[in-house]
Amino acid sequence: MSDQKLNRREFFHKTGRYSLTSVLALNFGFGISQLVKADSSKMALIYATRYGATKDTVLWIKSGLQRDVELLNIEEVTDFQALATKYDYYVVGSGVWRGIHEKLVAFLSSESKALQGKVLGSFVVCGSTAATESGKRRIDGYLKQIHSPLGYKPTFNTHFGGRLSVEKLTEADKQALTRFYQVYLNKALESWDRTEPSKAQLYGMDLQQFFDG
Ligand SMILES: Cc1cc2nc3c(=O)[nH]c(=O)nc-3n(C[C@H](O)[C@H](O)[C@H](O)COP(=O)(O)O)c2cc1C
Repeated sequence: MSDQKLNRREFFHKTGRYSLTSVLALNFGFGISQLVKADSSKMALIYATRYGATKDTVLWIKSGLQRDVELLNIEEVTDFQALATKYDYYVVGSGVWRGIHEKLVAFLSSESKALQGKVLGSFVVCGSTAATESGKRRIDGYLKQIHSPLGYKPTFNTHFGGRLSVEKLTEADKQALTRFYQVYLNKALESWDRTEPSKAQLYGMDLQQFFDG
């Protein structure tokens, strides 16, 4: 497994090259099957969602990853230890509801030893955008909620826009958000959709680069 790890220099070199390929492939309808390579390593993408935007994002990531990947909802996981030893590689991602999913944090904390060097990437799906410095800091903070219990920062880390559908919110979430909108944003709670299918697919293609490289 360690042979497959990229050092920092190789990674930046290869990511740059691949991102350009990814963009060209997306824009010009490049036959994605040409990128497929045989690979026997097992990979899991563990995600946490409450209202579905993170699940959608995971499916878009999968569409860019031209290899087998198991999609696992952390809420359905019963055996942390078995999960942490079953796969060769992992990617972990969570929606943000004030913070990331508690069960994902518990998994990363209790299995950090078994997961050393095996988590390739992490991401959060949230309402914050990186358009401002404070937004960037918030997003960094959410990603740290993954990296701190894990004990290291994986190679591929990013964030995606999420979605808020007021009619789908639980009563408790609706009340909390209504108050947040009133007090901090000075407006009524409203639905929005900032999901990013293309960015998520490109992220999947960048992960693929790790295996093709
Ligand atoms: C109760 C609640 C709290 C939220 N808190 C935050 C937050 O603190 N920071 C943020 O950037 N986004 C926040 N959001 C936006 C969510 O991250 C966004 O809706 C995301 O799509 C949630 O993922 P999911 O659709 O997979 O559940 C919040 C959303 C809800 C419903």
